[in-house]
Amino acid sequence: MEPVAYLDYNATAPLRPEALNAMLPVLQSVGNAASPHGLGRKAAASVAEARGQLAELLGCSAGEIFFTSGATEANNTGLRACLMPASRLITSAVEHPAVLETARALAKERDIELIVLPVDPDGLLSGDSLKRALRTNRPTVVSIMAANNETGVLSDLKMIAEMTHEADAVFHTDATQLVGKLPIDLSVTGIDLLSLSAHKFGGPQGVGALFIRRGLGLPHRPLLYGGGQEEGWRAGTLNVAGIVGAGAAAAAAEANMAAEAGRIHELRDMLEDSLLRGIPAVNVNGARDRRLPHVVSITFRDAPAEAVLAAMPGVAASDGSACSSGAPEPSHVLLAMGRSREDAENTVRFSLGYATSRSEIVYTTEVVKAAVARVREMLASADVAQAARRPEHSGGPVKENTARSWPSGLGADV
Ligand SMILES: Cc1ncc(COP(=O)(O)O)c(C=O)c1O
Repeated sequence: MEPVAYLDYNATAPLRPEALNAMLPVLQSVGNAASPHGLGRKAAASVAEARGQLAELLGCSAGEIFFTSGATEANNTGLRACLMPASRLITSAVEHPAVLETARALAKERDIELIVLPVDPDGLLSGDSLKRALRTNRPTVVSIMAANNETGVLSDLKMIAEMTHEADAVFHTDATQLVGKLPIDLSVTGIDLLSLSAHKFGGPQGVGALFIRRGLGLPHRPLLYGGGQEEGWRAGTLNVAGIVGAGAAAAAAEANMAAEAGRIHELRDMLEDSLLRGIPAVNVNGARDRRLPHVVSITFRDAPAEAVLAAMPGVAASDGSACSSGAPEPSHVLLAMGRSREDAENTVRFSLGYATSRSEIVYTTEVVKAAVARVREMLASADVAQAARRPEHSGGPVKENTARSWPSGLGADV
């Protein structure tokens, strides 16, 4: 069944019509942005326009933007560039694997001291722990995400930038989930490097960018060597159509940001309030007053997320982070916030976006209530049946590991 409600924007957003319209003529034409002839120059001009549109969205200059294949590559390129051998990297326990795994790999490769800061139960980083970690004489890079992909919790970028610069360190942020949703002004924040991915704000998949503050003086240590595109930061023929789509999506996100954020915030709150009021034993993860306006991470006690999602095929949402779906481990973000493994496995993330409608939210609210009730009911009766089959456990129902095998009948829409 095709989903009726798409609430998985943090995994990927639908392509904005503005992006599609801008991309179509490019896909239908020819031109390598590095070619000297007219068609090449036209492609290069389109890339320049898109670079300008992204720069406008971020409050930086176009020359500070380097296109990549996405935020994963931007994070890898950025961290690789600023981490000298024998330096230190301070990051947090709730980063996306595109930062955490890169950090771990570089730590091994380059003898880098890796400091992974904890977060509190609301998913917030403490300024004191960062300050303590920054007390050192060794060159240091701080990489802290702008907004968490699972909970939407926002970092205090201004505070982190100030502390980092007081300690003469470099500040990189993975802003993949923030860009295009809330305003950011790189001319005032003090961020040195920033990663983004176009498909999170309505651009095409496979296009991202790394912002590098001019004057940072990083040595060139790209991931890819070759034709020297992107001032040597990222060799390879530019994905002109994708870049044009990213630029158009950035322009549309910027033009509509205030209105979209307000409308989506209202819809998210409507969904959250109805689920909290309508379902017993649920709780919302992450600081309620410091979150992206379009995300809610919600734990349904005694209702594994995998089963809840299977019981509502009409709703596209996510258990944990979609980027790590398929991995058997529960969310490292929720575990870092002190949630139990069971709570982490009982957590669903709903993420709304520019095209989310009120009717999708009304539908989702009803469907989720029914799905959670049904999963709980079926698991409770499975427990009772199992206890009855095992007389040696006559002391009460036995809780089996429900993580991967659901009672039959859960696949139906409810
Ligand atoms: C915070 C964050 N960083 C990085 C990424 C990776 O983005 P991409 O897969 O577009 O490279 C994601 C994807 O979900 C993300 O949420």
